[in-house]
Amino acid sequence: MQFISFKNYEQLSAYTADHIVNAIKSKPDLVLCMASGSTPSLTCDLLVEKLKDEHADYSKFTFIGLDEWVGLPPANSGSCHYFFKTKVFEPLQLRPSQYHLFDATSNDLKKECERMDQFIDEKGGIDIMIVGIGMNGHIGFNEPGTSFSLLSHVADLDETTKSVGQKYFNGPVELDKGITIGFSHLMNTKKVFLLANGRHKAEVVKKAIEGPVTEDFPASIMQKHKNGFVVTDEEAASLLK
Ligand code: PGA
Repeated sequence: MQFISFKNYEQLSAYTADHIVNAIKSKPDLVLCMASGSTPSLTCDLLVEKLKDEHADYSKFTFIGLDEWVGLPPANSGSCHYFFKTKVFEPLQLRPSQYHLFDATSNDLKKECERMDQFIDEKGGIDIMIVGIGMNGHIGFNEPGTSFSLLSHVADLDETTKSVGQKYFNGPVELDKGITIGFSHLMNTKKVFLLANGRHKAEVVKKAIEGPVTEDFPASIMQKHKNGFVVTDEEAASLLK
């Protein structure tokens, strides 16, 4: 694992977006898996802007959404689906065959997980994964205590996730379960970037990088990834030794 720190959020987002654009230019059929949320938000905006400005051919790349709140329809503005649709798919006019997200309204969520695992297999695996880190150390909905060896799965949400997650919605919502890509896929991904910004993430970044590798603190898995990068701003790096 490598650690890269930038002065601010704008710089870390520009670095990450540049990296993805260059990767698409050298491998047009790149498979990108991204988390939604506050952290990767600017990376998404810059990715769209740079792909367009640089006239990159993005007609062959594939986009995979990391997770979704169980029960939320894509039209809900707090859903991961809505986030990617408005920030990436529509601006880039991607064809529906170019992206795959969990249908969290399905009454067969196990099948949804199998569909995702199969999709990833058929694509030959994920090239780049961009994730954030939760206030309890989760990645996606891989909550504390989740096995490092899982494929896609449904998770009972941690209390921290349920309360922090309220920030994505206009009013209070009941969040109970999540559907997520698991760590077996993360470990098989060729390059993983964990992004973190802001003083509020300093403690979890420190635990992820300097703490023990343990399923009790999911983001510590980054230490085991041969091509894992933790990318932060100065504030999120402020407690590191
Ligand atoms: P955030 O979420 O980027 O909105 O801080 C991170 C996470 O919970 O994974």
